[in-house]
Amino acid sequence: MKSDSLKLAIEDSRARYAAANPRSMAADKNAEQFLPGGNTRSVLHYDPFPLTMVRGEGAELIDLDGHRYADFLCEYSAGLFGHSDKIIRAAVHEAIDRGVVMGAPTSYERELAGLLCVRFPSIEKIRFCNSGTEANLMAITTARTVTGRDKIIVFDGAYHGGVIKFPNGNSRHNVPYDFVISEYNDVEGTAELIHQLGSELAGVVVEPILGAGGNIPGTREFLEMLRQETLEVGAMLIFDEVKTARIGPAGIQGLMGIEPDLTTLGKFIGGGLPTGAFGGKAEIMEHYNPKKKGTWNHAGTFNNNVCSMAAGAAGIGEIYTQQRALDFLEWSEAFRLALNDTFIERDIPMHCNGLGSIFAIHFSLGPVKKKSDISAGCLSLRPLLHMELLHEGVLVAGRGDVFQSLPMTQKHLFRVSRALERFIDRHKPLVLEVLGM
Ligand SMILES: Cc1ncc(COP(=O)(O)O)c(C=O)c1O
Repeated sequence: MKSDSLKLAIEDSRARYAAANPRSMAADKNAEQFLPGGNTRSVLHYDPFPLTMVRGEGAELIDLDGHRYADFLCEYSAGLFGHSDKIIRAAVHEAIDRGVVMGAPTSYERELAGLLCVRFPSIEKIRFCNSGTEANLMAITTARTVTGRDKIIVFDGAYHGGVIKFPNGNSRHNVPYDFVISEYNDVEGTAELIHQLGSELAGVVVEPILGAGGNIPGTREFLEMLRQETLEVGAMLIFDEVKTARIGPAGIQGLMGIEPDLTTLGKFIGGGLPTGAFGGKAEIMEHYNPKKKGTWNHAGTFNNNVCSMAAGAAGIGEIYTQQRALDFLEWSEAFRLALNDTFIERDIPMHCNGLGSIFAIHFSLGPVKKKSDISAGCLSLRPLLHMELLHEGVLVAGRGDVFQSLPMTQKHLFRVSRALERFIDRHKPLVLEVLGM
């Protein structure tokens, strides 16, 4: 689906980018000596080379060549609080001053646990780990152990971590669990599959918004069906809210009033520092109670690392209060909808899919409801959009994801709207040609 004119436009955009970023280019080249492709986190790579960032301030980032960007990547949602928020900095400094490798429980994880359990009604007890990946591994392991069953339903296009990902089906690079893949938002097909697997099914893992798969919101009907059908066959429903927990005071489960058996968290709950968590019904989590005989061991040297726990407690307790979360959802969603209005006014097949502070820009006439709605043309246009937004001082994910953060102001939102207007001015005929319209 890549037309010659699209190829030329991408080449031109990349050549201008390389000319404008000589220091990032050289730094990337140097890094190849010791890091494969200069990279230690695959998602951060894009062609011709990624920008090296040197500083963050509020909702902005500054790169090695001195350019300033409105940060709409927000560390793939973990950067909810922006860069170096004063309250979080103070909490981390205090934690460091008191000693970082305590080898014992501390007040920090207890405080953060309390905040999260109060906030998320389905989470009666919680455990921390080091990442969202680990949280999902633990949740799946828990479901398998509690039920004594093996099969786990996941969804095509889902991302639950570095070794639990299904961009195009399963792969040997994943952990060798017995995954069965269904189609996201397919209510009837998935209900049938749950019943077909019946007593072999340990659990269903679902992102309430299919994130890396295009920020496709799960419909209420779909998510409620998962709750109902898993209960019927005695399987566990696991909500992966690693990203979506920031939407509203208690994630999508809070907005929809659906209570999964287990929830996984990560990203922003550590205030921008590494962490992960899994939690849910007390009767399930009690299997990790070391005061009881025959319970399971859940290890992790840094599970309660003081910097992440302190930053998370300050972030959720003092900054992202329930009211702040509601306000943020309101204005971030208003911005998403305003961008969609612009696309309609400009009569261009583009659409911001998602909810509130998490969405992806698709080249499509309307909302994308399932993975197969994403056209090859849309995928081939994304690198051009990404490069062109960088030229305008707007950082988004290479695959089109846009995240908003708390310190953003009208100035930042305006920068994105203007950058998209310019993209449309310049490339509308090309977009229509690639999409065959
Ligand atoms: C929905 C979802 N689950 C799990 C993960 C894995 O989290 P981590 O990168 O902290 O391992 C991610 C990361 O992007 C994610 O988006």
